Amino acid sequence: MTGIQIVGTGRYIPQKIVTNDEISKLTDTNDEWIRTRTGICQRHFSEGETNADLATAAAEKAMKAAGISPDQVGTCIVATFTPDHISPAVATQVHRRLSLPEHTPALDISAGCTGFLYGLTVARGFLLQSERPYALLVGSEVISRVLDFNDRSTCVLFGDGAGAAVLKLSDSHPFTSVLGCKGDDQMLGCTNAPGTERQRIFMNGSEVFRFAVETVPHCIDDTLKKAELSPEDIDFFVCHQANQRIIASVIRKTHLPEHKFYLNVHNYGNTSAASIPIALDEMAEKGLLKPGTRTLCVGFGAGLTWGGAVVEW
Ligand code: ACO
Repeated sequence: MTGIQIVGTGRYIPQKIVTNDEISKLTDTNDEWIRTRTGICQRHFSEGETNADLATAAAEKAMKAAGISPDQVGTCIVATFTPDHISPAVATQVHRRLSLPEHTPALDISAGCTGFLYGLTVARGFLLQSERPYALLVGSEVISRVLDFNDRSTCVLFGDGAGAAVLKLSDSHPFTSVLGCKGDDQMLGCTNAPGTERQRIFMNGSEVFRFAVETVPHCIDDTLKKAELSPEDIDFFVCHQANQRIIASVIRKTHLPEHKFYLNVHNYGNTSAASIPIALDEMAEKGLLKPGTRTLCVGFGAGLTWGGAVVEW
């Protein structure tokens, strides 16, 4: 089966850093609680920049890293749950700003924090019927605008940012993906606050925690089985960066080596669909992703959705 290769990554993080002490001025919390319960030390908030601004900036960097031009792009996908508008999709605005060719499908994916992993499979499908070799896949979120500072257990967790990847089909880069959903609209989501037009995130933190620590180990296992690989074959596990305690619990449950788990939630908080591509871009920058490196990415989020993917570099 034709696989996919990631040939370039990029990220764009808004300038404004919001520390835990600064969050403590907006809601009844403190640095010690946030650090010990989540591992988060700071997050970045957009100052008026739109989702399309973030997504375009990350996509431009990924295209530069891949050394490709707009006329080589045949698919443009943005995974997000915080689009600028219900319609048109953020991806269409990235398409316009990057002057991608007209015969290029552009669409958003709404799969919560699993969006980038769903996107890998969707992008592969589009590439199989594209006349041009490359797909742009972006995870981009402006979560700060849907935070509810009256809900202290949720608002401290999230941050803004975008991560992007340029993909191409490859017979020498096997790709395995496991995707799932257990439909639920109570545990985690983003809806209008009661009596207002304003959207805000709601979450049952302890239920989501339980869901994550049960689902992620199964998902890693299922993905390894489908890829016919053992844990020793994987160089890095790249989990959705929601919470350091969730990742620590996954490590305890799976007995996988801690040093293989990439962690950056302390710097960004939970950036939802952007968290995995931001992590991959940091890893590429640090020289961790050499040709032949095998990563297993795993995510979970609103929907409830989950996904795992083995990506070879
Ligand atoms: N600051 C200070 N105290 C707080 C805060 C806060 N920000 N939030 C809650 N508390 C208090 C509570 O009021 C409670 O106090 P009480 O014991 O006096 O009643 C106490 O802390 C414990 O509250 P819990 O909700 O039980 O805290 P818990 O240890 O479960 O941690 C947390 C909460 C961090 C939200 C945890 O449940 C969690 O990590 N859940 C998963 C969240 C997540 O990762 N979601 C995203 C996944 S999907 C996606 O990415 C969209």
